[in-house]
Amino acid sequence: MQNHPIGIFDSGVGGTSIWTEITRVLPNENTIYLADSKYAPYGRRSKDEIIKLSIKNTEKLLSLNCKIIVVACNTATTNAIKELRSTYQIPFIGIEPAIKPAALNSKTKKIGVLATKGTLSSELFAKTSDLYTQNIEVIDVIGTGLVELIEEGKIKTKEMYTLLYSYIKPMIDKNIDYLVLGCSHYPYLIPILKQMLPQQVKIIDSGEAVAKQTKSILQSNNLLTLNTDPGAHILHTNGSIETLKSIVQTNPEINYDISTLVF
Ligand code: SIN
Repeated sequence: MQNHPIGIFDSGVGGTSIWTEITRVLPNENTIYLADSKYAPYGRRSKDEIIKLSIKNTEKLLSLNCKIIVVACNTATTNAIKELRSTYQIPFIGIEPAIKPAALNSKTKKIGVLATKGTLSSELFAKTSDLYTQNIEVIDVIGTGLVELIEEGKIKTKEMYTLLYSYIKPMIDKNIDYLVLGCSHYPYLIPILKQMLPQQVKIIDSGEAVAKQTKSILQSNNLLTLNTDPGAHILHTNGSIETLKSIVQTNPEINYDISTLVF
């Protein structure tokens, strides 16, 4: 069991930002990534649909012998992880917007959160937000259309810049000093965000925290790999292989295979 792969899924290519961190923190682990691009974005779907899609992805990863599953999608975590944990025996790691560190460190007491409608309207987000942001103003904005543009490979485009700026401008006007990225697709927008945001605004995403949590849960379940060689990585998509390739090309130090798969 220890040498079985870590399974990771997202509504599309964005969760590769989490996958990259996992391969960095756990270099000897094998991984299998599912990009469910065919059904992206999840953020516009109902809770029931998100649960069904998350179960479909889980079943596929289990059929590929995964020992743990990382839900590398904020929308799927906030809407479906409870259901997954109560249905399956293996451990699940989720990803939530990193509101806590932003709220604890904010000097202006104003933080921005950019996420999908599905995440911002979820019970889990409301709970986390209530817990940590009592004296903080949270400017939360739904990033409508951003996931679609990323899935179409339109990251460095005028269209993306204009749309993204329309979401960020109200946060800048409110003097935020932290911007929380509440969607695993959004780390691919960090280079553009850095051009838009005042220098003092820090951008927080959850990739490293999720990777460290995955390591800690593997350790506590005695599931860390016994491999001493670099891990093998397979990325499957049910959408455009070109888009997935263009996204992961930004990580040339990792060896991986990409293929299409029906799921
Ligand atoms: C989406 O599918 O709408 C975005 C994925 C995420 O929330 O991380």
